[in-house]
Amino acid sequence: MRTIPADFLWGGAVAANQVEGGWNKDGKGISVIDVMTAGAHGVERQITDGIVNGNYYPSHEASDLYTHYKEDIKLFHEMGFKCFRTSIAWTRIFPNGDELKPNEAGLAFYDGLFDTCLAYGIEPVVTISHFEMPYHLVKEYGGWRNRKLIDFYVNFCEAVFKRFKDKVKYWMTFNEINMIVRKPWKPGGIQFAEHENKLQVMYQAGHYMLVASAKAVQLGRKINPAFQIGCMFLHPTSYAATCDPRDVWTSVQKQQRAYFFLDVHVRGKYPNAYYTFIESNGLNIEMKPDDEQILHQGTVDFIGFSYYSSSVVYHEPSHQQQSEGNEISGYKNPLLPSSEWGWQIDPIGLRITLNWLYDKYQLPLFIVENGLGAVDELQEDGSVHDPYRIEYLRRHVEEMKKAIVEDGVEVMGYTPWGCIDVVSAGTGEMKKRYGFIYVDKDDVGNGTLKRYRKDSFYWYKECIRSNGQVL
Ligand code: BG6
Repeated sequence: MRTIPADFLWGGAVAANQVEGGWNKDGKGISVIDVMTAGAHGVERQITDGIVNGNYYPSHEASDLYTHYKEDIKLFHEMGFKCFRTSIAWTRIFPNGDELKPNEAGLAFYDGLFDTCLAYGIEPVVTISHFEMPYHLVKEYGGWRNRKLIDFYVNFCEAVFKRFKDKVKYWMTFNEINMIVRKPWKPGGIQFAEHENKLQVMYQAGHYMLVASAKAVQLGRKINPAFQIGCMFLHPTSYAATCDPRDVWTSVQKQQRAYFFLDVHVRGKYPNAYYTFIESNGLNIEMKPDDEQILHQGTVDFIGFSYYSSSVVYHEPSHQQQSEGNEISGYKNPLLPSSEWGWQIDPIGLRITLNWLYDKYQLPLFIVENGLGAVDELQEDGSVHDPYRIEYLRRHVEEMKKAIVEDGVEVMGYTPWGCIDVVSAGTGEMKKRYGFIYVDKDDVGNGTLKRYRKDSFYWYKECIRSNGQVL
């Protein structure tokens, strides 16, 4: 009988820009997130032209992991974490992005962070770029529109690979690479001029990022052949809304498109459907003669992905309600409940997704994001009762277990999103909480930043202790 492997990487995930704060400490430069104001459910975050006085920017302090990291990692250890997924803020290492030498104070911060993890037996899992890049690279070069970004990114990778080669084994090159063709500001520093061909810009940027990722993989392997370097992909799980073959075909096509970039990460080349998509949309993607070879030689060791919810598709516009959730387009599934932010809750969708991915690629899978954003109430005695989060996670872990035990899918680990409360990437809110650990801070920046254990903290501790047996 198969079981969850003994070395399974149970842990939690965050991203530098959503948790660290310390936006201008120790030489850190301004990042694309540092110029984003807070929004709300249904209210877009604004991107300002630099830091403009009078605005509230939630990333500037965030959950202040920058100064609390020792306390936070101790709490992760108390839960039994085997790993901790975070990202490295590019702007701490290269404040402007185009410097030749890294910022020593930035590197030293991550030395402290990773050393603390390792002292507790927690394996750092590092996303090199998670929705964060130097604002200067946007102003000066246009962000990932520009091929020059490949060199800047590889330079950044070289600095962190060399510095942390004996501390970090698991890396992912870009968070949710396919987000570049959905909402390109955070991952790519891209805004559009009026009447610009958005698809052209986004798919071109995506190509540069894939080349950069492949170069980073090759470089990383040279620096330490024991590195495990993966990709990270937003899995937009969706189903045909009906058994009308036209709906099914639309659903197949949607999935093919979603997998374009994943195919390149894993197989080292674009699928044929990509070229027909490019052609039928009249896009002209600039590829250098060497790119093919670079992509071919820079394939990943594992697939990291995020899974939160699912949606359904029709072959033509429907009167049904559109679904919300992680920048994913689609319609609501009438059979599923939704979170307070409208993200549909579909635990079986995780099992389906694991099977789809493993059937297609046969690479180890790492669920590096999953979780429920919800409003939590801190009680006077310091407790936080979050049975809804426990229920969400329990049901997803159950389905993950079935995928491993009954379906034979190879899963390396599970790191629920926002293991300590962080700023929401989508809305900039603090009240959209995912954590096992509550951070006392509100949507306009008030709060003591004190940490409190939620009920889910104790639930997850037991889940990890029993290797997923006691849920
Ligand atoms: C993923 C991102 O898209 O979803 C995270 O990688 C993000 O950065 C998470 O926080 C949840 O989204 P949100 O909008 O609820 O923060």
